[in-house]
Amino acid sequence: MNEIQKLNESLSGQSPRAILKAALARYDNIAISFSGAEDVALIELAHKMTDNLQVFTLDTGRLHAETYEFIERVRKHYGIKIQIMSPDAEELQALTSTKGLFSFYEDGHSECCGIRKVNPLRRKLHEVDAWVTGQRKDQSPDTRLDVPVVQFDDAFSTEEKPLVKFNPLSNWTSKDVWDYIRMTEAPYNELHEKGFVSIGCQPCTRPVLPGQHEREGRWWWEESTKKECGLHASNVIARV
Ligand code: ADX
Ligand code: SF4
Repeated sequence: MNEIQKLNESLSGQSPRAILKAALARYDNIAISFSGAEDVALIELAHKMTDNLQVFTLDTGRLHAETYEFIERVRKHYGIKIQIMSPDAEELQALTSTKGLFSFYEDGHSECCGIRKVNPLRRKLHEVDAWVTGQRKDQSPDTRLDVPVVQFDDAFSTEEKPLVKFNPLSNWTSKDVWDYIRMTEAPYNELHEKGFVSIGCQPCTRPVLPGQHEREGRWWWEESTKKECGLHASNVIARV
């Protein structure tokens, strides 16, 4: 068993706070990946633990107006810097000039997600030793049931630069996250008041009906096992 697997074993029964504390103690150069949805719980937990909090968000250019407003509210509420990562302009222009603005409905989301999310994420992850996500097991029965609290990131590590990924909320349910947001009076995305649960880009996200799983509101025209955009490719690699 390697060092990261051992760390995972020792942290897997612990609270998100303890996992984040261990992550921040172990890595100075570590960043939280903030999606403008309920993983604000990570920032709420972490902002009191360090003066050196690194937070970034992937601005795909296709987020809802409410999400942009929310990101700004979070920045002001916590008095933190949020690094806004944008897609490469040339790469994006090549896609939209040839295939238009809605190619994902015709040939799947991976090309657009690759340019708007995965490549900017790769650029950011190249600068850090570890990253923190808000992934949870209960977010997707098809792809996230095995999400560990800490893992070696197979998808974004390179030979020269190993990368570690922490998922402190892995064992929390959606209800746990929301109880915490209410208890701490943390800000939240107003779209949650309009039936949205899992929130991504505007054209690829819709509200869910009572009883529907939250993931059914994402990329609804595609099969459930394909509903990963490449940010968490190791969830899919692990299942092939
Ligand atoms: S996605 O891969 O399907 O889009 P999801 O919305 O479930 O991901 O979010 C899981 C975690 O991925 C979030 O808690 C966050 O850490 C990260 N993430 C997702 N989208 C973004 C984004 N636009 N910017 C930064 N991090 C993101
Ligand atoms: Fe493009 Fe949709 Fe992926 Fe956003 S979620 S990057 S709009 S395919």
